[in-house]
Amino acid sequence: MSKVTVVGAGNVGATAANVLAVKNVASEVVLIDIKEGVAEGKAMDIMQTAQSIGFDTVVKGVTNKYEETAGSDVVVITSGIPRKPGMTREELLGVNAGIVKSVCEQALKYSPNTIFVVVSNPMDAMAYLTLKATGVAKNRVIGMGGMLDSSRFKYFLSQKLGCNARDVDGFVIGGHGDKTMIPMTRFATYKGIPVTECISEAELEEVAAQTMVGGATLTGLLGTSAWMAPGASIAFLVDSIINDQKKMIPCSVYLEGEYGFKDVNIGVPCIIGKNGVEKIVELKLNEKEQALFKASYEATAATTATLHEINAI
Ligand code: NAI
Ligand code: 2OP
Repeated sequence: MSKVTVVGAGNVGATAANVLAVKNVASEVVLIDIKEGVAEGKAMDIMQTAQSIGFDTVVKGVTNKYEETAGSDVVVITSGIPRKPGMTREELLGVNAGIVKSVCEQALKYSPNTIFVVVSNPMDAMAYLTLKATGVAKNRVIGMGGMLDSSRFKYFLSQKLGCNARDVDGFVIGGHGDKTMIPMTRFATYKGIPVTECISEAELEEVAAQTMVGGATLTGLLGTSAWMAPGASIAFLVDSIINDQKKMIPCSVYLEGEYGFKDVNIGVPCIIGKNGVEKIVELKLNEKEQALFKASYEATAATTATLHEINAI
């Protein structure tokens, strides 16, 4: 038996619950929202696909009843406002900090051993806030953003290479922000062949630039932020926790000296299993990558510091 709670039954939360169910990741998924009826309706809608798609996961929707989330192995936090065209993720901090803080405290009461997957933006700061507000061990708070950014990176790479996206591997580290994420072009491969041998440096730079504004591009097209790839990325990460898959996934985790920085949540490759963050993988960055990571750390730490200014922690 495994149980996952998804807080926020909006675009991202409902999509995550749907993918978790369709892929039979957990036996039970509880979707919870403050808006009366929304979580119940979306859960019922998902459950009405069980026979045609073929899954056994039971998805239940509740309005604000945290007692129904009791004993969750994982709590995913997607509650909060999304960005509108022209907005940065950082501009959401004031409103979302209050929501995320109250949500993680309530969820912890009923699931004292849970692992938090934080999605609400600005995600790195929200993950840091969850860690500080709950006081749980650092392996139990995982910010989801790097998985999504890496999916976008691989998609744009496959478009440039003209190949199947599943033949491409690569990842993105740093903050989950348009200017803070770092697509790791040096490590990207096409069926094991370094992409640096397949496309020109200028083309690779173009792919990196497309990745960095990947979220903003979709926000411009949709009028709100994306939810399909975010939902799928959440389910991929939760699967690695629930089923102890020990996948290497870039996640926003609390650093205590790794990569030369501390007291910040930022994206780095991690081994994710039943204990949450089981290992932080320390890559040997070259000089250029180190400079990019330092700049990303400085910007992410500055956003995170705002939490003190608004007395959120
Ligand atoms: P949405 O507006 O569709 O859904 C948010 C839901 O949260 C709403 O249903 C709302 O009623 C609910 N909510 C608000 N306060 C709540 C509370 N106190 N308790 C429970 N539920 C509450 O927004 P969407 O598109 O689902 O985005 C959610 C968040 O995820 C945003 O902050 C967005 O920026 C972020 N996001 C993060 C990504 C990442 O990779 N980290 C990717 C995509 C979105
Ligand atoms: C995204 O990257 C806005 O974080 C959200 O789509």
